[in-house]
Amino acid sequence: MSGQLLDGKALAKTIKTELAGEVVEFIENNSTVPKLAAVLVGDDAASDVYVRNKRRACEQVSIESELHRLPADTTQEDLLNLVARLNKSIEVHGILVQLPLPNHIDTTKILDAIHPRKDVDAFHPENVGRLSQGRPRFLPCTPNGVMQILHRHEISTAGKHIAIVGRSDIVGKPLAMMMAQKTSHLGPDAANGTVTLCHSRTTDLASVTRQADILVAAIGVPKFITAEMVKPGAAVIDVGINRTEDGLVGDVDFDAVREVAGAITPVPGGVGPLTVAMLMQNTLTAARLQVGCE
Ligand code: GUN
Repeated sequence: MSGQLLDGKALAKTIKTELAGEVVEFIENNSTVPKLAAVLVGDDAASDVYVRNKRRACEQVSIESELHRLPADTTQEDLLNLVARLNKSIEVHGILVQLPLPNHIDTTKILDAIHPRKDVDAFHPENVGRLSQGRPRFLPCTPNGVMQILHRHEISTAGKHIAIVGRSDIVGKPLAMMMAQKTSHLGPDAANGTVTLCHSRTTDLASVTRQADILVAAIGVPKFITAEMVKPGAAVIDVGINRTEDGLVGDVDFDAVREVAGAITPVPGGVGPLTVAMLMQNTLTAARLQVGCE
């Protein structure tokens, strides 16, 4: 038996179509076009692709975007000055500094400098704090994308055992927090999970993941999750995007795991497109905050 394919690309298209309508309404009501400023430092090929995808999505939903492309040897001071300028600009509603930044730049310093009301990645400590207290301003894009995929395929997290493999600030930690809350922006069925946050020091990882009704892989190791690590019938969400000699591969050994799983996301075409769609949602939220209608 093959697990159901959870098509993130198609779902992202549906969500962007819904969002495009909301953007048009926002523009009509406020005579303001939401705008995202993307900052790309250096010439990392993957980051280049991600930023291009994000700007293309902006176009699809009638959000304006501007790209600030800076050389790899940009100083921390120059980058902080750019962030300060974007913070002050009344035309810019959302600011996205693409990660990773070059090693000589203190990433935390840069992310902390982004105004919390323009922080469409939801990385600022004020926004992380709000999220942990169940009163989010922005929802982190990839965790929200994972929740959307499950919710829109009617896979409830309530009362389920969810194993998340990977404790990053971008995915694992915020997703664990969101899924364990009493309710969510998608209602209580998309929350109330019993979450185990697994990592590189988890003892006998497979025995933990095998108990999970929902397994989320977010560790950045190609094909790390094997069929033996999956409970038959589980929903498997693959957040990994690894560039290998065989092309793009997820953190899940897709072909083998699909035979065991009840549902599974592909890579590419799974969580990735949802991440971008959620960024569009956050940029509209940022614009609403700044014109005072939220
Ligand atoms: N690099 C990898 N994922 C992300 C993300 O979600 N946001 C930003 N800004 N950079 C990233």
